Amino acid sequence: MLNPFRVYNYLGEVYNKLNKNIVSNKTDNKENFLVKEGFRISKNIISLESIEHIISRYHLKEKNFKKTKSNLALPLINSEFVNEIISNQEIQNTLGFFYENILKRKCFLQVPPSIVITNPEIKENAKYNIPCSWHTDYFQEFTFHIPLSKIDKTSTRTLYASKSHKDIFISSQGLYDINKFNYQVEEMYSNPGDVIFLDVSGLHRAELGNYRMMIQFKFTSGNNLLNDIVQKETYKKMAVIFKENFIGDIEGIINNFKEDLENLKFINDKENWEILKNSLPYYKSYLEGLICS
Ligand SMILES: [Fe+2]
Repeated sequence: MLNPFRVYNYLGEVYNKLNKNIVSNKTDNKENFLVKEGFRISKNIISLESIEHIISRYHLKEKNFKKTKSNLALPLINSEFVNEIISNQEIQNTLGFFYENILKRKCFLQVPPSIVITNPEIKENAKYNIPCSWHTDYFQEFTFHIPLSKIDKTSTRTLYASKSHKDIFISSQGLYDINKFNYQVEEMYSNPGDVIFLDVSGLHRAELGNYRMMIQFKFTSGNNLLNDIVQKETYKKMAVIFKENFIGDIEGIINNFKEDLENLKFINDKENWEILKNSLPYYKSYLEGLICS
C-alpha cells in the first residue's frame, strides 16, 4: 500500500527539483552556481586564527589519531567559533537563499555541528563505517563542511555528482549506482578558510585517502531533527570510538569540552538553531563516553 507520508515527501521533492531547474536557468551569479551544480566552494571566508584555535583546543593534529575504519566525531560547541559562523554573512546568505528562495521553507540546524576526523587504513575489500557509496541524505537536508586541513587529491574528500540534485529520479535517503547516470563527478578540493556547500539531495560520497579533519554543519526544513534520529546513548558511543582512536592528551580534550559546555550560554541566540543549546543531555552523554571508557 502507498504510504501517504512517502507520497507527500516524493511530491515535495519533485516540486523542489522543478524549482531548482527553473532558478538555475536564470542569469548567472554566485547563488545560481549552487543551484545549477548542487555545490559551491567559497574561498577564504573563515578566519585561519579561529581554525587554528579549534585544532589546538581539540588536539586535532594527525599524529594524535590511529588509523581506523570509522569516522570519528566530536560535537563542536565552542561558543566563539559557533558565534563566528552565526555572524558569517556568506554562510547566512547561502542558507537563506537555499531554504527561503529554493525550498520555500524555513532553515533549521538539524544536529549540533561536529568535528569529523577521517584517518582510514586503506585496505582492499575492507568494510568502512564511512559513507563511501553514492547516496543522498535526508529530505530537504543541506550541509556545509569547513575543512581544517588542506583537501587535495591525496586526501579523504567528498565527491559530488554535479547537477544530480535536480534529477527527479533520485530521491532522498537512497543508495545509487552512479554508472546508471551520466553525471560529471567533482572533487571537493579546498583549503582551510574555505567552506564547501553541498545540496545533499544530489549524489555524493566520501573517497578515502589521507587524514582529513573538518567541521560539518547540517540543516533541514524542520524534519529529522536530532531527537528524532539519534538517541543520546549514540553520543556516548561516538565518544568511546573517538577515545579508542585518539593517542594524544585526552585530558586536555575533556577539560576543553567541559569548558565549552559551561560556556554554551554564550552562544548567540539564533532562530531555529535552538538545538545547539537544547542538546545538553547529548553533550553530557558524549562527555561520559570520553571520561569513563
Ligand atoms: Fe551524505
